[in-house]
Amino acid sequence: MSGTNPDPSWDPFSWRTKPYAQDVAYPDATALDKAVGALRRLPPLVTSWEIERLRTMLAEAAQGKRFILQGGDCAESLEACTPGEVTSKLKILLQMSLVLVHGLKKPVVRIGRFAGQYAKPRSSATEVRNGVSLPSYFGDLINRADFTPQARTPDPQLLLEGYYRAGLTINFVRSLVDGGFADLHHPEYWNLNFLNNAGLAPQLRAEYERMCANLADGLRFMEALGEKTVDDLTRVEFFTSHEGLSLWYESAQTRRVPRRDGHYDLSTHLPWIGERTRDLAGAHVEFFRGIRNPVGVKLSAKTTPEQFLALATTLNPANEPGKLVCITRMGAGNVRPALPALLSAAKTHGLHASWLCDPMHGNTRSTSTGIKTRRFDDIMGELITTHEVHLEQGVPMAGVHFELTGEDVTECVGGAAGLTEQDLTTNYASQCDPRLNYQQALEMAFVIAKRVGGKG
Ligand code: PEP
Ligand code: CO
Repeated sequence: MSGTNPDPSWDPFSWRTKPYAQDVAYPDATALDKAVGALRRLPPLVTSWEIERLRTMLAEAAQGKRFILQGGDCAESLEACTPGEVTSKLKILLQMSLVLVHGLKKPVVRIGRFAGQYAKPRSSATEVRNGVSLPSYFGDLINRADFTPQARTPDPQLLLEGYYRAGLTINFVRSLVDGGFADLHHPEYWNLNFLNNAGLAPQLRAEYERMCANLADGLRFMEALGEKTVDDLTRVEFFTSHEGLSLWYESAQTRRVPRRDGHYDLSTHLPWIGERTRDLAGAHVEFFRGIRNPVGVKLSAKTTPEQFLALATTLNPANEPGKLVCITRMGAGNVRPALPALLSAAKTHGLHASWLCDPMHGNTRSTSTGIKTRRFDDIMGELITTHEVHLEQGVPMAGVHFELTGEDVTECVGGAAGLTEQDLTTNYASQCDPRLNYQQALEMAFVIAKRVGGKG
């Protein structure tokens, strides 16, 4: 049945009969219909060929033949659709991926949390400030962050604005990549000097430069031998991903394509279902079970093996390799108690899944002054433990999922630069969750290269 949607009860809008977690109240139903109608007529942001290609790569990563690096902002903002911010996101992902290629000795698949990461789940539907209650900020695709009734009212026009900015972002990413921005034969682009990071720890800089020199040598050597794998290791492409939270947005861009079976969500290559919307009976699982894209699902330490099995068989009914991406986000101390049972259930039932470790979302905490942060050591701890458990269970960890930025923000504490809680207010720019900054992200790539690369 591969390639077909066997269930006639599914269509891109069949989720409308199911409970919609994280739903927002659009005050004007006609305006919503109009925006969704406009979005349905607009061209896709990605193609089914790219999606199928990614699916093959995800399947290979599940076998340990590739490594997935997925990363980007917690919440993209419409204003951040600028040349500088887009290039700095690409650069940090590119540089991390080079560290990983070098350390893991396998091709790395780069997937941005960008070109559509505009919708955010919230723990509460409303926010109260000084006795005033307004809808929470659900991301720029839904409403705006300012605490005014006007800004917080869900606006269907933002579905279109998000689509346009996602289109501009992906267009710029593609042009940069096609134009040689990410070509490994042009080290001037991936050179650290190209980034304005005077504050980069000397040891990290030295380690990175040593690695680049090694890579450049290796590349020349392999090319001199006419080595075929050079192409695969050096071909740089970026895929897009975002949380498929607004089903209006996702279903409006979901359609059939010529000469292929089934429906594709063409707003992104890899949509994922968040921890708060993965209810088996809910609208999100209903929508995502019917599309051909690979689908990610976040799994916290609360996930029981039964829930996991039900999700896996619903989201990937034909058990196709590369179709289901399980993104575990358990918290450093919860990995050992919770992850083995999920991996073991997958093995026992012969379920195909590509397992990614998101070491960010289970490690969020508040400082004594109420600032949301994460500790570098907790993030690293979750990564290392997750990898150990995967080794013990004999199920490859297919990759990692980070919230990070190429900018010098101060949102997570720790790392080589020794960022402390007192430093957090210096440049805390995230609208939602704390991200690794440029230096912390690069450092994390070296941790993975050493720990994962060293142990197979
Ligand atoms: C996220 O990835 O930004 C997020 C909200 O994650 P989770 O659903 O795992 O909490
Ligand atoms: Co987040």
